[in-house]
Formats: sequence, structure tokens, C-alpha cells
Amino acid sequence: MDTVFNSSVLLHGLVVIGSFTVLFYLFKFSWKCWCGFRAYVLSEYWQTDLKTYGQWAVVTGATSGIGRAYANELARRGLDIVLVSRSEEKLHAVAMEIERSYGRQTRVIQTDFTVGHAIYPAIAEKLGELDIGILVNNVGMNYAGMLVYFMDIPNPEQRITEVINCNILSVTQMTRLVLPRMVERGKGLIINISSEAASEPQPMLSLYSATKIFVTYFSRCLNSEYSPRGVTVQCVAPFVVSTNMTHNVAVSAFVKSAPDFAREALNTVGHSSFTSGCLSHALQHVALSIFFPGWFRLSAFCVRQTEKFAQSKRKELEEMMAKCEKKEN
Ligand SMILES: NC(=O)c1ccc[n+]([C@@H]2O[C@H](COP(=O)([O-])OP(=O)(O)OC[C@H]3O[C@@H](n4cnc5c(N)ncnc54)[C@H](OP(=O)(O)O)[C@@H]3O)[C@@H](O)[C@H]2O)c1
Repeated sequence: MDTVFNSSVLLHGLVVIGSFTVLFYLFKFSWKCWCGFRAYVLSEYWQTDLKTYGQWAVVTGATSGIGRAYANELARRGLDIVLVSRSEEKLHAVAMEIERSYGRQTRVIQTDFTVGHAIYPAIAEKLGELDIGILVNNVGMNYAGMLVYFMDIPNPEQRITEVINCNILSVTQMTRLVLPRMVERGKGLIINISSEAASEPQPMLSLYSATKIFVTYFSRCLNSEYSPRGVTVQCVAPFVVSTNMTHNVAVSAFVKSAPDFAREALNTVGHSSFTSGCLSHALQHVALSIFFPGWFRLSAFCVRQTEKFAQSKRKELEEMMAKCEKKEN
């Protein structure tokens, strides 16, 4: 009798625990769906007025790709833009494009972020007393333009330091320059461009992937520290965007154009502090985390497949370049 009673109590207990577990996961799943729907669909019609953060937006790496697209989109939304990049000529061309298209003011700061800490006093001086509401820490570089083993990084002694200076030091130092005034005014927005390559460790992109997880953690910590004081720090982790970095790969359902990406990513401000930037990339992120979990990406099998893929891409690229050269001749 006692045994029957005990097993029925046990069964009831298990049913209750099971029901709570199912309810918990259902709630979690529904909450995630709602957050995604709000950030990527509703945000098209329900946007934060970015002008409320301040008059000026500073964009690093603003002369091409995602940075240039952010600069244009921020100007379209009514902000004056400080463009920070490497090539003086390209900076003036993008500044002119923005002034002509949107009638906003621009300033340019020519600098090379691979140099390291020595560049920041000059940047601070040029930013001066501007009312900076938004900083987009976009500048970033890969070391080889391809997937390679760590020991195959070209000119590693110099290149490793350059990548760390460009991808990590720039984000922390630029933040140091603008954050105190934002906190003083009780408002500001810092957008840090990380990468999907940081969602899990990525063999054959080791240094790049590691610098980007730094950006992700730094952004998420800062957001917790400073959002109660009015400053939002948003981390954007895109998948593939068609830019120079990705050899201007064709735009498709999976690959975004830089202008579309910047527009959709800016819509997510106020809805999400850690985002893939657009619906297509968010869905790819979910699919990848289900079908290619971290342990699989780190396996010897996956590294071998990545190596084969890299070899075939390298061949494709070489053939494409040879064709282009032939055409030019
Ligand atoms: N494209 C993607 O699929 C993708 C995916 C995930 C994350 N991201 C991240 O998004 C950001 C932008 O990438 P992107 O694809 O737009 O790259 P991109 O097309 O190569 O553009 C990079 C920009 O940064 C500037 N820049 C590069 N090195 C610099 C340096 N040392 N000092 C100053 N400026 C420098 C470039 O200026 P120049 O014109 O003078 O070279 C250019 O304006 C990066 O942080 C990247 O890691 C990109």
C-alpha cells in the first residue's frame, strides 16, 4: 500500500516539475520571439528618434562598407557627422556625399587606428567641445582577408599588433573619449560593431574572432554599467555584409548590402542592446547555433572542412582576379 502511495506521489511530483519546465521553456521561447519581432519587424515602424541623443555622431572606419552606410543613414536621420578613417581623400569624398545628400554638417579626422595609443590625444583635440550624442565604433580589420591558420598570418609580428590596435584598442579608447560627457549629460548612444564570428570561437579566424568577443563582452558590460545613467551601449554582431572586407560578395537573402544593413540595424536602437542587426542575420544566427554548435566548430573535422572551403575560395578569388586583370589589359 505504502509503495503504491509513494510512487503515485513521485509521479505527481514529476508531472508538476515537468509541467513547470515546459511552461518555463514555452515562456522563454515566446519572450525571445516577441523580442525578435519587436527588434526586427516592429522597429520598421517604431523607431527611436536618434537626434535626441545629441547633435553629432562620430563614425570610425567611415569611408567604406558598414561605416560609410552608418554615416549616411545617421545623416539621413538628422545628425551631423564626424567621419574618422585612414584615407584623407576618401574622407572628403564621403563628407561631400553626406553634405550634398542630406544637408548635414560634417567634420573629418584622418587617422590610422593600427598605430596604437599615440593617435588618441589628436582625436580628442579634434572632437573638442562637439555635442556628441552617438559614437559608432565600426572600424575593424581581419588579418589575411581569408580563413587561415594562426601561423599563416602574413607578417605576424606587425599584423597581430595592428589587428589588436584596430579592433580592440580603438573601441576602448574612442569610448573613453566620448563617454564622460555623455554621462554628464545623462544621454548618449555607443554602437560597437562586433561580429557573428564572435558568437562561438572560430578556428582559422582565431585572432579576429577573439578580438570581436572582446568587443561583445566590453559592450555588454558597459551597457549594464551606464544604461542606468542614460547611456546605451549597443553591440551589433552582423553575419555577412557585402563590403570590401567580404570581397563585395553578391547580395542575397543571406548577405546584406551595407546601406540596408545600417538602416535595419539603426532601427533596432532602443529595442535591443545586443543584436545581429537585421532579421536575416538573426535567423542565420539561430540556425547556426542549432546546426553548428560551438563544440562542432572546434572539432578537428570542422577545421579540416573549413580549410578545404578556404582553399576553394582562395582559388575562386585568384581566378576572379586573373579575369579582371585580363579584362584591364
Ligand atoms: N562585412 C562583414 O560581413 C562584416 C561582418 C561582421 C562584422 N563586420 C565588422 O564590421 C566593421 C566594418 O567592416 P566592413 O566590412 O565595412 O569593412 P571595410 O569595407 O573593409 O571598411 C572598413 C573601413 O574602416 C577603415 N579602416 C580600415 N582600417 C583602418 C585603419 N587602420 N585606420 C582607420 N580606418 C581604417 C577603412 O578605410 P579605408 O577605406 O581607407 O580602407 C574603411 O572605411 C568591422 O569592424 C568588421 O569587423 C563586418
